[in-house]
Amino acid sequence: MTINIAVTGAAGQIGYALLFRLASGALAANQPVSLRLLEVTPALPALDGVEMELRDCAFPLLREIIKTDDAETAFADADVVFLVGARPRGPGMERKDLLEANAAIFSAQGKALNAAAKKTVKIIAVGNPANTNCLIARANAPDLPDSAFSAMTRLDHNRAIAALADKTNNPLSAIRQVMIWGNHSATQYPDLHHASVAGAAALSLVDEAWYQNTYIPEVQQRGAAIIKARGASSAASAASAALDHMRDWHNGETAADDVLSMAIVSSGQYDISPGLVYSYPVRTSGGAATVVENLPINDFSRARMQASEQELIEERDAVRHLLP
Ligand code: NAD
Ligand code: LMR
Repeated sequence: MTINIAVTGAAGQIGYALLFRLASGALAANQPVSLRLLEVTPALPALDGVEMELRDCAFPLLREIIKTDDAETAFADADVVFLVGARPRGPGMERKDLLEANAAIFSAQGKALNAAAKKTVKIIAVGNPANTNCLIARANAPDLPDSAFSAMTRLDHNRAIAALADKTNNPLSAIRQVMIWGNHSATQYPDLHHASVAGAAALSLVDEAWYQNTYIPEVQQRGAAIIKARGASSAASAASAALDHMRDWHNGETAADDVLSMAIVSSGQYDISPGLVYSYPVRTSGGAATVVENLPINDFSRARMQASEQELIEERDAVRHLLP
């Protein structure tokens, strides 16, 4: 059966890195793909060019391309939605500076998702500030379940794994149970207390000062480091992480000895305020993502988890006027 995939901001940087992989079948092997591409009206000519290139790839699984500036058209019968379209931050900006600029987009798109998408839709918010954008969309889509909504912290998760593998001189495949808690922002908490490297506790292999003073801030600030170096925000790695997130959610099975990181609508797990879109360790199975519960949390972790929760509460309060 054809999978209907909607992508907003399809003519942007991340769109350009994402669409060709989706069209090649990287989300769901052997499943025909219909791409529904949403852009603002002035970007539609650029989207024509992207469509030409997609067609020129002659991807056997790509059955349909719909380009539109109307959100309900893009989301009609969508199975999977990538909410990418938003303004990215430039040098010196924090993600929360984007809050006002992008909040209005996500409230309109929440309403359109509610009206048009399948009730079984899976949605990932990538556009920043991703967690709060997701919360806004969620609040504007009363007929969809909480479980339809997620925001991306998989890029942070992948960064955290890559940095640990590098530090310990191990292959990526040796790393298990790295997890990101909280907001996709500088308050996110990359937690190594449950992580292992080739079967050994990660924190027994690195010194505490490195973990606290180098590793955590580097993962938290990686997006800013890329903006500084490239003059533009991460795009290929963001697209790759969005694909990882959706592939694993759509039909992945997380190994029993591992976790993924995904921001979901909290129902109070780990005493986080219900309704916030908060990144948790999850496992996916049968098309559902489930928070891994009952992990022991020490005071160091608890303080960082709460700091990120507090930032999300402040973000939510700043956009209250857009929440019905
Ligand atoms: P970009 O500026 O290259 O592309 C964004 C596209 O969105 C543009 O083509 C723009 O026309 C379009 N757009 C704007 N408003 C729209 C709307 N209302 N409907 C549809 N399309 C709209 O930006 P990018 O580099 O592709 O980044 C997109 C977003 O993703 C930014 O907010 C960026 O900060 C964020 N991002 C998130 C992560 C993450 O880990 N969560 C990582 C990287 C980037
Ligand atoms: C990232 O983490 O690379 C993105 O969220 C872009 C940014 O603004 O940091």
